[in-house]
Amino acid sequence: MEDLTRDVVIVGAGAAGLTAANELKKAGLSVLVLESRDRVGGRLWTDVVDGAMLEIGGQWVSPDQEALIETIADLGLETYSRYREGESVYIGRDGALTRFTGEIFPVAPETEAEIVRLIGMLDALVAEVDPDRPWEHPDAEELDRVSFEAWLEEQTDDQEARDNIALFIAGAMLTKPAYAFSALQALLMAASAGSFSHLVDADYILDKRVVGGLQQVPLLLAERLGSDVLLGQPVNTIRRDADDAVTVITDNGLTVHARAVILAHAPVLYPWIEFDPPLPRLKQQLHQHISMGFVIKVHAVYERPFWRDAGLSGTAFSPYEISHEAYDNTNHGDQRGTLVGFVSDRNADDLFRVSADERKERILESLSHYFGPEAKSPLVYFESDWGAEEWTRGAYAASFDLGGLARYGADLRTPVGPIHFACSDMAGAGYQHVDGAIRMGRVAAAAIVEQVRA
Ligand code: FDA
Repeated sequence: MEDLTRDVVIVGAGAAGLTAANELKKAGLSVLVLESRDRVGGRLWTDVVDGAMLEIGGQWVSPDQEALIETIADLGLETYSRYREGESVYIGRDGALTRFTGEIFPVAPETEAEIVRLIGMLDALVAEVDPDRPWEHPDAEELDRVSFEAWLEEQTDDQEARDNIALFIAGAMLTKPAYAFSALQALLMAASAGSFSHLVDADYILDKRVVGGLQQVPLLLAERLGSDVLLGQPVNTIRRDADDAVTVITDNGLTVHARAVILAHAPVLYPWIEFDPPLPRLKQQLHQHISMGFVIKVHAVYERPFWRDAGLSGTAFSPYEISHEAYDNTNHGDQRGTLVGFVSDRNADDLFRVSADERKERILESLSHYFGPEAKSPLVYFESDWGAEEWTRGAYAASFDLGGLARYGADLRTPVGPIHFACSDMAGAGYQHVDGAIRMGRVAAAAIVEQVRA
């Protein structure tokens, strides 16, 4: 049993928590970061599996992600572009494969016209949405009552156009079925990346990677904090004291007294902490209306990037395939070739109902539909399964159920006395991404500095 005292305790050593801790330290406050896992980084995790370096969690950086880009530069890390030479492939509703270049999938001309019209319509709506305050849109209530799927049905009868537009938000971003979240939530997702067009453009949204892996961001941020980061310390209790200070207790009996605490992890994990007194009733309601998406990130490493020989970029899409998108994910300077595929929401549910062998077979079969039979025989195969991670419980991040964003969104980031909240799941710009985590870490730190100096 150990008793420590700091100005601020930060729960969680992900990008948000470590950014906040560094900002607070720069402002002259003492900090302690308590991390439940035996590593830092949370949803950022670069590891070597069977001799292959894999980005098990987040990896891509896009040009609008200024907070992340600044941090990468500040830490002296190098970036490189995702491989994108050659043609992409698309598998349509009829199962036919077509090679194409550009952003719009090769569909029938009337479907293409519908896709272009819907993108224009969504871009116009997204331009009206402040990603930090989507609930302030004049039609927020109305847009939050209708599922994105139903909203798309109101706009067009063209099923393939709807399936493709839904894919950019549902399978590819929120990793929930398009009937499970609202049109307002979809607009927030697009607004957080600058526009709906940005989500359609893989070369924009999946632009760069960090040489050596994105987990270096939290690793280097933690290095700056030295012994002020403690691993293997799951926080289980947060008590507000009479003088509005806090006492934070971990499973290992460590007790830390502080003037403020930042919960820097996904909101779905708040119920695992006992709050004394309990959080206000509306916060408790709010937390029950937000849930994680569900996606399997699949890594397949081959002797060489064989698809490039066929003039393919490795980029593939289909709303009708188990792996709805795939990319060339070859590491910087690596002779071997790596494909990364994604299996989302209902497809992920289905594949976790079958054995691991059958899951692997069905996923590789799907990749072979895009890239040919060689895709079925990788040297290394690995599934990132964040649904099984006790300290995350899904991926990529959390979103509201129907009606939740307009009803509770405005209260998501509001502190409760000395208890502050920061994570990518509650970001505006950079929502669901590392960029958003860093932004939220900065916001929480600034609020505490102001509170302490008042
Ligand atoms: P994060 O979850 O990372 O950190 C929270 C920390 O708190 C964790 O370390 C956890 O262990 C700890 N914790 C939880 N409960 C605790 C407790 N009670 N006590 C102590 N510690 C506790 N983003 C992007 O920008 N580009 C991308 O390409 C991708 N791709 C991607 C793929 C996959 C598979 C995933 C899972 C995620 C992505 N993302 C992404 C999303 C991105 O990784 C994510 O949004 C941020 O890393 C989240 O950072 P946070 O700090 O907010 O939370």
